[in-house]
Amino acid sequence: MQLSPRSPLLLSTLLSSFLFLGACGGGGSSSGNPSSASASSSSQTSSEASSSSDRSSSSSSEALSLHILADFPIGVAVSAANEPSSIMQDNEAGIAQRAIIEAHFDQLTAGNIMKMSYLHPAQDTYFFDDADALLDYADANGISLHAHTLVWHSDYQVPDWMKNFEGDAAAWLAMYKEHVETIAGHFAGRVPSWDVVNEAFNEDGTYRNSLFNQKLGTAYIETAFASAREADPQADLYYNDFNISNGGAKFQAMINMVDDFIARDIPIDGVGFQMHVFMDWPSIDAIKSSFAAVAERGLKVKITELDIPINNPYSPGYNYPDNYEATFTDELAAAQKKRYCDIVTAYLDAVPADLRGGLTVWGIRDSDTWLISALFDDNHEDWPLLFDNNFDPKPAFYGVADGLTNQPCL
Ligand code: XIL
Repeated sequence: MQLSPRSPLLLSTLLSSFLFLGACGGGGSSSGNPSSASASSSSQTSSEASSSSDRSSSSSSEALSLHILADFPIGVAVSAANEPSSIMQDNEAGIAQRAIIEAHFDQLTAGNIMKMSYLHPAQDTYFFDDADALLDYADANGISLHAHTLVWHSDYQVPDWMKNFEGDAAAWLAMYKEHVETIAGHFAGRVPSWDVVNEAFNEDGTYRNSLFNQKLGTAYIETAFASAREADPQADLYYNDFNISNGGAKFQAMINMVDDFIARDIPIDGVGFQMHVFMDWPSIDAIKSSFAAVAERGLKVKITELDIPINNPYSPGYNYPDNYEATFTDELAAAQKKRYCDIVTAYLDAVPADLRGGLTVWGIRDSDTWLISALFDDNHEDWPLLFDNNFDPKPAFYGVADGLTNQPCL
């Protein structure tokens, strides 16, 4: 499923961060058929959602377009080029995914192919063909592309040549700026927004000891923002991170950085909340106040990577197999639907319309989620997304629709 093996660094990041989380809600133990859950939920809620838009009141998801329900981008992360489950391939999965994208989404994020080592594989080599092809597809369908990401510590995405770059501080800085400016410059005018720097903080709020921090100090963050603005004055520039929707130490560190940037006129337009959240964490209140804190500063809030797994193996209370949900029951599907709806509602409640940068789900169908390898080492199952493995919409899909149309979250 994954294009590249997961790096120990990212895995340990996930592990350490998820250890902080609360216990996973027990959920029901009744067995059930996910497709019947989906069908019953869809007939109940899609007509509600449809009736609040101009669409017909058919109960099928084809009659309901998710993005039409929102006045901000509704996005999804996709595999592209020759990745497994690429949307660019003319096989069954490619065709089915493109149908879903064109019906329900008006923004894409490349799950992998616009990261550092893909776009900049050697110091003198940039590779834009795959990203350009994805962008051409998006453009042809009236879909925008949120660009992800110019600077990310993750071991598998820092190009080897950059790790081995020898040069003094000035040479490092020049090389680093060229990376950001060349890539942002290439896409200038074609992408509405960038995740400029991804995941710069540790859970305790200290700055991550990334290669960039080691070579350039924490100023590597503002340097990236300034260089990105220089190369693409139009794009919205986001700082993007996970575990910042809980109001904890990492959130506070991010807010302190944002305040410092604002005070010193470092260009930043918004904060991307990845939101790889769980059924029971963070609380909706914490999510709302985290969003509100960013909006109060006049910055955009973008939910950049939403997924909601059922099983939470990193919670202190998790004890496999006692807490492991092996079956996606009707009850779990309904609870996940409510959770999606609650999060969308929190977003609408806490973020004024002009500061809503959009909402992106990290993947289309459950079987393609990155979480199964990241959380479970490919051993266990989960169902964190909006579409099941047959590409049918799950109750979660209708939870998003309900949230977008101010329906009660049931
Ligand atoms: C993930 C991709 O989905 C995987 O395919 C890849 O193996 C690792 O990266 N936070 C981010 C994303 O910002 O770039 C990550 O994407 C998920 C966590």
